[in-house]
Amino acid sequence: MDKFAKGAVRAQKAGFDGVELHFSHSYLVNSFLSRVWNKRQDAYGCQSLENRARFGLRSCALLKNAAARIFPVGVRINGREWGAKEGTTSEESVGFAKLFEQAGANYIHVTGIGYGFGHKMCWMFPDFRPYPEVTDDTREIADALKTTGALAPYAEAIKKAVSIPVIVVNNLTPQMGERILEQGKADLIAFARRLMADPELPGR
Ligand SMILES: Cc1cc2nc3c(=O)[nH]c(=O)nc-3n(C[C@H](O)[C@H](O)[C@H](O)COP(=O)(O)O)c2cc1C
Repeated sequence: MDKFAKGAVRAQKAGFDGVELHFSHSYLVNSFLSRVWNKRQDAYGCQSLENRARFGLRSCALLKNAAARIFPVGVRINGREWGAKEGTTSEESVGFAKLFEQAGANYIHVTGIGYGFGHKMCWMFPDFRPYPEVTDDTREIADALKTTGALAPYAEAIKKAVSIPVIVVNNLTPQMGERILEQGKADLIAFARRLMADPELPGR
């Protein structure tokens, strides 16, 4: 856990403006948050939201103590997980967001993940499909995320529950992004692949 703090201090010294704690997709901290992975019965176990969040909460708190107070610390979480019955629900994500806000997070970045092939594969891209056809166990996420702005309802649910800014991502167009902002479903929108294709997009 203290490695997050050490990493953030290093980033701060190197001149970065802030850090984002990656608690989403299927990385380390999500393996505590998500019941897909977390089968523990100890204080970090799957018995309660607080226990599932404990690793992340302690990492966040250590980091907030170590870095300068003005250094923004965001937390990226799955707004929902598809394709597994133990996958994180929207309600659980809202609970996690509230806990991370209390732990000092300066914003929440909402992404999502789907599981397929007996949980062996995790994915987040609607157009990243198993060849040649979407399989039965990956159909749920493929259908869920194929429309632009599909994660907006999960960001909105979190935004209603916290007072820090909420970012939404995934398969957005600039037009859909504007609509989401106008409708107050999120405070910021994020692009990944569009910026790789056109880094000048935000200035247009
Ligand atoms: C090549 C590539 C690598 C990515 N690597 C990561 C990663 O390491 N961590 C992460 O949280 N998201 C990663 N993402 C996901 C993006 O952060 C983003 O959530 C996703 O691409 C959906 O947004 P988009 O539809 O605007 O591309 C990656 C995306 C791409 C295209």
